[in-house]
Amino acid sequence: MDSVQLTKTFQDVFQTTDKPTTFFAPGRINLIGEHTDYNGGHVFPASISFGTYAAARRRNDQTLRFYSVNFPETGIIETQLKQLNYQEKDQWANYPKGMINYLLKDGHNLPSGADIVFFGDIPNGAGLSSSASIEMVTGVVAESLYDLSIDRIKMIQLGQKVENEYIGVNSGIMDQFAIGMGKKDHAILLDCQTLEYAYAPFKLEGYVVMIINTNKRRELAGSKYNERRTECERALADLQKATPIESLGDLTEEQFEANKHVIQKRIDRKRARHAVYENQRTLKALQSLKANDLEQFGKLMNQSHISLRQDYEVTGKELDALVEAAWEQPGVLGARMTGAGFGGCAIAIVPEENVDSFTENVNKLYREQVGYDATFYPAAISDGARKL
Ligand code: GLA
Repeated sequence: MDSVQLTKTFQDVFQTTDKPTTFFAPGRINLIGEHTDYNGGHVFPASISFGTYAAARRRNDQTLRFYSVNFPETGIIETQLKQLNYQEKDQWANYPKGMINYLLKDGHNLPSGADIVFFGDIPNGAGLSSSASIEMVTGVVAESLYDLSIDRIKMIQLGQKVENEYIGVNSGIMDQFAIGMGKKDHAILLDCQTLEYAYAPFKLEGYVVMIINTNKRRELAGSKYNERRTECERALADLQKATPIESLGDLTEEQFEANKHVIQKRIDRKRARHAVYENQRTLKALQSLKANDLEQFGKLMNQSHISLRQDYEVTGKELDALVEAAWEQPGVLGARMTGAGFGGCAIAIVPEENVDSFTENVNKLYREQVGYDATFYPAAISDGARKL
C-alpha cells in the first residue's frame, strides 16, 4: 500500500476530505544473537521493508479513534485520552493505546486526540515483530502530530515497556531498537546491556537473505518466552554466587565452563549455555562480516540454530524442517530461525542465481514433512520508523 491508497482509506473510514499525514515503521529480522537481549548480550538485527503504515490527523477533542485495514471486523476502536488502560475488547488497538499511555506517563504533552488508520504488511504471527512495529509507528505518529521532541532511544524503551507492563510479554529491547534505529542496507550490532550500538554494512554481493515463513502461528509464544526468561534468571542467580557478573552476557565460553557446575537445575544450565555461547557467536559474526568471511558468518548462523534447537528448545518441528532443508541446498551460506521461535520465520543466505531452485526444493521438503507450504520472501533491509 502506498501513501495515496492509505490516504484514501483514511478518508473513507473517517468520512472526511482532510488529508492525513502518513508514516511507516518496519518489521525486523535478526541475523544472529537470539534470546540474548534480555540476557545482557548482543544482538544483530536489521529492519526490513515489510512493516506497519499509519495515516493520522489530530483532533480537537479528547477522542482517539483507531482503525486497522488488517482487522476490518473490529471496526473503529474509540477511546479517550483519559481512558488508556488495557482492555481485552480493544484487541490489537491495545498496542497504540499502550504507546500513547506511556508517552503521556513519560511527561509528553498530547493535548488532544487523533484519528489513525493502520495497515500492516508483515505476515501475522510470523515473528517479524508486527507488535513492536505498530508501537513504534504510533510513537512517530505522536511525535509528529503533537510536535514532541522524543529521544529515539527513549521511544524505543517506551515501546518495550508497552510489551512488558501493558501487554505482559517479558521481551527484551531488540525489536523496538531494530525498528526505531534501522538503516537501509545495514544491520545493527547492539549491546543490550549498555545500549551501545554500531551499524555494519549488510549488502552481500551475489547473495539474497531469504525470509521463510513456516506459516505456523506462534500461539504459545508468550508463556514459553516468559518461561525461558525465568530459567535464565535462575541460572544467573546461581552463577552470581560463584562469580561477580551482572548478566549472562558478561561471560566468555571459558568462564561459563569453569562456573557452570553452580547452576543447580540441568535445564537452566542448558538455557544459560545457549545465552553465553550465542552472545559470543554474535560478536564473532560481526568480526567475520568485517573480514568479508561470509562462509564463517553462515556457519555461525547454523550453530546458532543448533543451539536454539538443542539447548534453548525454541525451534519446533516446523522451523527445524525448514532450516534443515535450507542447509541441504547448493551454495547456501547459512540458515537459522529468527526471532522468538516456536514457529514464525527462518532466514537463509542464498546465492542470487539459486533463489528459484532454493524456493522450490525447500518448499517441497517442507511440505513433505509438515503437510503445508512455507512462504518465501527476499528481505530488503530498509530504514527505521519514520514519517513518509
Ligand atoms: C522476541 C523478543 C525479543 C528477543 C527475541 C529473541 O522477538 O521480542 O526481545 O528476545 O524474541 O531473540
